[in-house]
Amino acid sequence: MAEHAIGADDEIDLSRRKFLTRATIATGAIGAVFTAVPFVESWSPSERARAQGAPVDIDLTKVEPGQMIAPIPVWRKSPIYVVHRGPEMIKRIAGHDDQLKDPHSEQSDQPAYAKNPLRSRTPEFLVLVGTCTHLGCLPKQRFAAGELYPSWPGGFFCPCHGSRFDLAGRVFQGSPASINLRVPPYSFPTERTLRVGADEKGAA
Ligand code: FES
Repeated sequence: MAEHAIGADDEIDLSRRKFLTRATIATGAIGAVFTAVPFVESWSPSERARAQGAPVDIDLTKVEPGQMIAPIPVWRKSPIYVVHRGPEMIKRIAGHDDQLKDPHSEQSDQPAYAKNPLRSRTPEFLVLVGTCTHLGCLPKQRFAAGELYPSWPGGFFCPCHGSRFDLAGRVFQGSPASINLRVPPYSFPTERTLRVGADEKGAA
């Protein structure tokens, strides 16, 4: 069978194809602009402010003791873990300081009102930035005592490289993470509302 050589007809075909390809790309780009603009403009002022890092209000009535709020709220593109600790969970935060890297949160990142053994303003609500302080994965909840090993007091386990944190977000020795999970600035504008990103000092 004779080899097919590129002839004049083929050249016309090729340049037509190039033109059609360019026209399609250009139309697609214009379409993308037209679809993106109404989308951005349809954001409400509160949605736009949130995307820029405005404080986020969270309804605490929806989380029972022993649970973490779901779906996970987001503040400044970071997941925020809000755990309602019951009295029995609070008890499990004590008694293992000698197994922790930074039990008194000296090296860790939290507002002054969370620099205490429970790392929180009130015992029952734990508020953390839910990214591992090693390389940023999302630690999983492992709240039950003994869930990881017999002496496990409950907390979080990072599936990426195995960092372990207690129910106050304090990191255990032997974990690749070197500091405790971060606590964002927060406040309680009403008894059952948590505001992440703002406290007495104003918006973060
Ligand atoms: S990212 Fe969590 S242990 Fe590495």
